[in-house]
Amino acid sequence: MERTFLMVKPDGVQRQLIGEIVSRFEKKGFRLVGAKLMQISTELAEKHYAEHKERPFFGDLVEFITSGPVFAMVWEGENVIATARQMMGKTNPAEAAPGTIRGDYGMIVSKNIIHGSDSEESAKREISLFFREDELLSYSRPLDSSIY
Ligand code: PPS
Repeated sequence: MERTFLMVKPDGVQRQLIGEIVSRFEKKGFRLVGAKLMQISTELAEKHYAEHKERPFFGDLVEFITSGPVFAMVWEGENVIATARQMMGKTNPAEAAPGTIRGDYGMIVSKNIIHGSDSEESAKREISLFFREDELLSYSRPLDSSIY
């Protein structure tokens, strides 16, 4: 089953959106297989966003993501990488459709509430940066037979 890395960013945690965000992915039918509230070190932030290090906002992005607690999660399900990105909405909340997380709760691109892996390769890399193998659980739920 496909897995993705999702993270409620410091603005989302401060705005008390963890429960709302978890609930959206639960209701869709995805399965939470790992989660933790954590403060990201500068070193981890620079590794996580390494592909953006030449971009003008890189310093601000690292400063922001390390500014307070984040809620890191791994979710599992059919096509979860692409579907979670659709549920998050466009990167810039001003362009994100109503009904998406950023469209409903965000205002500006530098405070866009949630991060989600954009490909299978990123998901694998990001999951292994944030979680040890023994922090991720494999389990089934009775309702899975009503979803699939
Ligand atoms: S994406 O989703 O990767 O295609 O978006 P991209 O535009 O490439 O942006 C990469 C990440 O940088 C964040 N971002 C910014 N942060 C601060 N200031 C500005 N101006 C800005 N523009 C983009 C954007 O939210 C992406 O972070 P994540 O955590 O992946 O959403």
